[in-house]
This record gives sequence, C-alpha cells and structure tokens, in this order.
Amino acid sequence: MTYVVGIIGAGQLARMMHEASIGLGIGVKLLAEAADSSAAQVIADVRVGDYTDPATVREFASGCDVVTFDHEHVPTAILEDLEAAGVAVRPGPKALVHAQDKAVMRSRLGAMGIPCPVNRVVGSPAELISFGDETGWPVIAKTTRGGYDGKGVFKVDSPDEAEEPFASGARGPGVGILAEEFIDFRRELSALVVRSPSGQAVAYPVTETVQTDGICAETTTPAPDLSADLAVQCQQLALRIAHELEVVGILAVELMQRPDGSVVVNELAMRPHNTGHWSIDGSHTSQFENHLRAVLDLPLGDPTVRDPWTVMVNVLGGSVSDLPAALLHCFARDPKLRVQLYGKDVKPGRKVGHVTAYGHDLASVRRRARHAGNYLMGLPDENVPDGGGADG
Ligand SMILES: Nc1ncnc2c1ncn2[C@@H]1O[C@H](COP(=O)(O)OP(=O)(O)OP(=O)(O)O)[C@@H](O)[C@H]1O
Ligand SMILES: [Mg+2]
Repeated sequence: MTYVVGIIGAGQLARMMHEASIGLGIGVKLLAEAADSSAAQVIADVRVGDYTDPATVREFASGCDVVTFDHEHVPTAILEDLEAAGVAVRPGPKALVHAQDKAVMRSRLGAMGIPCPVNRVVGSPAELISFGDETGWPVIAKTTRGGYDGKGVFKVDSPDEAEEPFASGARGPGVGILAEEFIDFRRELSALVVRSPSGQAVAYPVTETVQTDGICAETTTPAPDLSADLAVQCQQLALRIAHELEVVGILAVELMQRPDGSVVVNELAMRPHNTGHWSIDGSHTSQFENHLRAVLDLPLGDPTVRDPWTVMVNVLGGSVSDLPAALLHCFARDPKLRVQLYGKDVKPGRKVGHVTAYGHDLASVRRRARHAGNYLMGLPDENVPDGGGADG
C-alpha cells in the first residue's frame, strides 16, 4: 500500500519534503500557488489552486491519507471543515493556530509558564506608547498574523515611531498588533522537535541561528558554547510545547538568549523550518523525513548529528543569476560541500538555496559554508584565504 501525503503550498519546504518522500516510497500530492513554483517543478501530481478557497482544498484533500503544509497560512475554518469531513490534518488547526497567530501563541505560552518577552496586544499608537513607557524603550511591535522573514516586525525606538506599525499596508484587515519587550539578545537559538500522533517525539540538537534583517542567514549545530544543561532545558521546553499543544510533525521553537544566558521564546513554527535545513546532511534523519514519518505516524528516525559540527548558509538572491553554473567553482573547491537549490528565479534577498558543510573543526566547517554561500550570492569573501579546501 502506498501512502499519499497532500502538501499545501509549493515552496522549497515542499520540494525538500518531496525529496525525502522518494526513498520511503511515499506518494506526494501538491496544492500549488503556481505551476512553476519551487515544488511544482519536481512533483508529478500537482493541482494549481487557491488554498483560501474551501472547495479547492476539500477537493484536493480527497484521496490523501493525510494533509500537511509548506506554510502556515491556510485559514483555520477550512482546516476545521476538513477535519469534520474525516480528513487527517497534521498539524491540526487547534495546534496550528499557535503558529499562525502570535497573540494566541503568547497567551498560551504565558499560561503554561514558558518564558516569553513581556507582551500585550495594543489597539492604537497611544496604547503602544503606554506599553513602551511601562516596559522601557525600544519596544518591538509585530503584526499578530501573516508575518514572515521579519516582515511585519517593527523595532520602535521612541514614541515618535509608534504610528508606523499601524500604518496601512503593514497589516491586513482584522490583523492586530502585538507589543513586546525588546530583548537585547546575545544570540538566537532554535529548538526543533518532531512529534507523531501516537505521542512519540524526538529532539534535534539545539541550533544557533543568525538572522540578518529578519531573515535566517546562517545556522550552526549544535549551538556553540551552550551548556549541556541549557541545551537539555531548551529541548525539554520544545518537547513540552509539542506535547501540550498536540503538535504533529515538526515544531520549531525560536528562542532568544539573553546576555545572562537565560532564554525566552520568540515564536513557534509548525512545519519544517529553515533552522533545520542542516539536518538533511548533518543528522541521521532529516527534518523533512521525520516530518513525513510523523504525519503518517511511522516510527521517528534518529535526529542526532553525523559529525560534530554542521553549518548551513542560506543563499539569498544576489548578483549571481546562474546558480548551477556557479556551483562549478564551489564543487571544484570543496568536494564535501552539500547544496540545495530551490529552482527559483534569483531576485534580491529571496531565499533561492542553501549550502551545508559538516566536519570536526568548527572554524573550517564555517569557512567552507560561508565561502560557498558568499560565492553563490556574489559577495566578497574576506574570511577565506585562497586554497581553503575540504578540510574538517
Ligand atoms: N521581542 C523581541 N526582541 C528583540 N528582537 C526580536 C523580538 N521579536 C522578534 N525579534 C527579532 O525579529 C526577528 C523576526 O521576528 P519573528 O520571528 O517574530 O518574525 P517573523 O516575520 O514571523 O519571522 P519568520 O521569518 O521566522 O517567519 C526575530 O528572529 C528576532 O531577530
Ligand atoms: Mg521567526
């Protein structure tokens, strides 16, 4: 018997889920925004349609053993309808809302006693100013829904800037503004776990992630200089959230680490996550394979590392338009380099691929990944002396 997994959304996450499905003999059906989107280029069974249209989604779901996601934007009402019609939706709408709505997420995590920045939903610039006066400036203001890659996140330095998050265009109708204490973090971390409907769960090693302008630029796994105690604490926190929210599939808990070492939760994602791309090459079971295993309630695979260090660098659209041609240099220089290109047109700042290096020496692994990433983005590479090859 062949399982059929329906994936809603056709970006690079669906594309990499498809890759993981092949060896497992799992069939994949795709609901794509456009026929040429990243995953639609590689999956045979594609419907092009609107994921906000109930009839389109219902029709798509028929014939799927389970429906899962490349993104978190499918409206809750549509997913509730599917569940009522007997479709297995994983993660289900009750869990997913915590990744869709930052205000819902904050209130639930607060009730669970999970450390979060001080926060409050604000209805006007005046309320944002009162919040800032109480908690101290600057503050962060975020749209409660629809944000991605830092879009919808505003650092508000003083009362003079309190209008901006409310300005038209920054948010859609019915979307609120969540005010948060500004965390002057030392670094960002990600605790990635995966959970199946039967309750089995595994935790990946905690990853350090560098965000530039709100977009993930680089990850290092395991996070350097993280004590074993704190690493376990982060993993347990993520496992507890996955359990209490009844998440099925990948849960990424984005964390900010304060200068005193303590961590607070930034947000939750319930789908394979950019901070887990390292696992394709760096762990025994990738986040994409484990997501598929989880949504099908198959036993989960080993999330531990293959080599002591894995560094992933995102390739954001830059001056290089022919990425496959540029790989010539990267591969000639570093035979152990691993690459994923997403089949997308190169546009400035767009995520078009990522590179991964792994090995025993962190400095060398990092240098290799950064060199390839910079080369594919057309950036100068000050870090890399000539002749640095596939050591580590
Ligand atoms: N309270 C805060 N204090 C300081 N920095 C913050 C705070 N909240 C968010 N940030 C910064 O903004 C980035 C983006 O925030 P957030 O993850 O909420 O937005 P997003 O657009 O939903 O992101 P994503 O790309 O993960 O979907 C964070 O990774 C962090 O660097
Ligand atoms: Mg985020």
